[in-house]
Amino acid sequence: MHRKGIILRYRDLLPAVPEECVVTLLEGNTPLVPAQNLARSIAPGTEIYLKCEGLNPTGSFKDRGMTMAVSVAKAEGADSVICASTGNTSASAAAYAARAGMKAFVLIPEGKIAHGKLSQAMIHGAQVIQILGNFDDALGLVREISEKYPVTLVNSVNPYRIEGQKTAAFEVCDALGDAPDCHVLPVGNAGNITAYWAGYKAYHAAGRSKRLPRMLGWQAEGAAPIVRGHPIRKPETVATAIRIGNPASWKQAEAARDESGGLIRMVSDAEILEAYKLIAESEGIFCEPASAASVAGVIKLGKESFFRKGERIVCTLTGHGLKDPDNAIAQSDDPVTIPSDMAEALKILGF
Ligand code: F0G
Repeated sequence: MHRKGIILRYRDLLPAVPEECVVTLLEGNTPLVPAQNLARSIAPGTEIYLKCEGLNPTGSFKDRGMTMAVSVAKAEGADSVICASTGNTSASAAAYAARAGMKAFVLIPEGKIAHGKLSQAMIHGAQVIQILGNFDDALGLVREISEKYPVTLVNSVNPYRIEGQKTAAFEVCDALGDAPDCHVLPVGNAGNITAYWAGYKAYHAAGRSKRLPRMLGWQAEGAAPIVRGHPIRKPETVATAIRIGNPASWKQAEAARDESGGLIRMVSDAEILEAYKLIAESEGIFCEPASAASVAGVIKLGKESFFRKGERIVCTLTGHGLKDPDNAIAQSDDPVTIPSDMAEALKILGF
C-alpha cells in the first residue's frame, strides 16, 4: 500500500485539515510484530505483539501527533512551534517544523536527554535550550510562553497531538482484525495512554472494532506520580524519556485505566533494563529503555499469572533503540580487542 501518512489515511476519523496544509513525513503504518519468543518466556499461552513505533520517521510515536499538531498550526498561519521535551517530542517537532518551514524552539532538561534525540533537534535546526531543571519545569515555562506570545505549543496538551496519536490504536485493530485483550505501554506525561484509549473507543464507536482492550500503563519507580498518588519533585530513572514527575494528562490516564478495567503500576530501573535486553536478544528488536517498561510490565504480570490463555497482548515500543546508544553500550559487555591475526581471532571465536 502506498504510504499516505496518518492524516490522509484516517481522515474520516480525525479533525479536518486542508490538504495543502498537511505536513507529513509519511508517519504511521508501523509494524505489529508477533513476539513468540517473548511470549513463550514471559507469558506462556498468550500472544504478544510489539507495535514498533521506533519505525516512524523520527524514530518515535511522537510523529503521529506531530503531523497533526504542525499541520493545524500551519493551517492557522503559525510560523513557529515550541515544546518541552525529554527528547523525542523535540526531535519530532524539529523535523516537522523544518518540513513546514517553521521555527522550532525546544526546552530540554540539561544533561538528561539521550544523545540521538539531541542530535535530531540540533540537525533539524531547532533552537535548543537546555534548562537547569526537569521536564516538568520546562513544560511550565513553555505553557506560559505559548499563552503570552505568538508561538504554537506542540506538547500533548495540544489536543491535536492526542488526535494524531489515536491512529496507532486504529492500526492495531486493522492488523489484528479487532482490538487486543490488553494494550500495554509506558507512561510519562500520559498523553499516549490517553490517545490509545481514545483511539480504541473511537474505532469501536465507528463500528470498526468489536471490543475494547484493558489499558495497562507502566511508570518507572523513581518517576511514578500516578502510582504513588502525588507529584514527584525530583523524578529519576534510567528511562529518561519517562523521567516526569507531574504528568499533564494525569486525570485522562486514570480515566483510561478505570474505564478500560486496566491498571497503572510501576517497574524498577533494573526490571526495565532486563526487559530492554530481553527484547533485543530474543526478538531482534532494539527499542529505547522507556519503551521496554511495557514489556517489563508484562514480565511482572506474567509472574502473577495475570493473563488468561490465548489472550492477545499488544506492547507499544515507543521509541527506537538507536535514540540512546549510550545506554545500549553501558548494558553490554565491552568488545574484546585483539591484534589483526588469524590465530588470535580463531582462539577468541572458539573454532
Ligand atoms: N516512551 C518514549 C520513548 C517517550 O519519548 C515518551 C514520552 C513516553 C514513552 C511516554 O509517553 O509522555 O505520552 O506518556 N516522551 C515525551 C518527550 C515526554 O518529551 O519526548 P507519554
